[in-house]
Amino acid sequence: MADPVSYARLQKRLTPAARVTVITGAGVSAASGVPTFRGPDGLWQSFRAEDLATPEAFARDPYLVWQWYDWRRQKIAACEPNIAHHVLASWQHQFASFTLVTQNVDGLHERAGSENVLRMHGSIWEVGCSRDCGKVPHRWRDDTVPFVALPPRCPQCDAPLRPGVVWFGEALDPDIVERCLMATNCDVFLIVGTSAVVYPAAGLVDHARRHGALTVEINPESTPATRSVDVAIAEPAEVVFPRLHDRLFS
Ligand code: OAD
Repeated sequence: MADPVSYARLQKRLTPAARVTVITGAGVSAASGVPTFRGPDGLWQSFRAEDLATPEAFARDPYLVWQWYDWRRQKIAACEPNIAHHVLASWQHQFASFTLVTQNVDGLHERAGSENVLRMHGSIWEVGCSRDCGKVPHRWRDDTVPFVALPPRCPQCDAPLRPGVVWFGEALDPDIVERCLMATNCDVFLIVGTSAVVYPAAGLVDHARRHGALTVEINPESTPATRSVDVAIAEPAEVVFPRLHDRLFS
């Protein structure tokens, strides 16, 4: 059920002069068919992060880790961006400034046309040499689906390649974190489709609030962020964004 007061509050602040920052999580890609991590059908119900998404797991068994990433790459390759991705892409030139931050590694924002996406957790479409041999770039794009042999190998030193994602226990790219923090200095901050439990991504909304932004959550379920945001819209992203877009631009 659309809450007219929430939409009206948001619409009032989403003017062409507004500086807008959006952070998305797995929920924005749910309607595209990409599995989320938490919740009843989430990946972490069937798989253990410790076995698949840590540097230790990769050191122990790069084949097993790659089997999981190769499977996810195949799944994502078969998905298309949904209306929420498309609306967000169309908003990038509609405001005084617009920054899109994502925790997603699926690349669907870019496929919808979003540019300069700040990818906090990397990209499943990038790889790097696990030994960091220095003879290849730190990360590069490789769209191969599926890989013929797992794990794929560094073309220069033959060490296993690694997925270009951030694993649990690894540091985020400090430059990306810095740019995300700068983007919290905005007028409207939307937190979309994330369970808001993984930091530092989950903390950005607090920075935005301190900067005086109107903070808005879009998520059909409640999260640790729900109580602290100014406006919580408990509906799916693929419902909210086209509706907002119509209200703002038609
Ligand atoms: P989660 O799977 O933790 O949370 C997905 C959120 O999306 C939940 O709060 C759902 O209620 C919500 N959701 C589901 N369908 C939705 C829809 N159609 N519209 C809007 N919201 C919807 O995913 P993230 O919060 O993105 O990290 O997970 C954060 C990080 O934890 C991921 O980047 C990944 C994971 O472990 C790493 O791999 C480092």
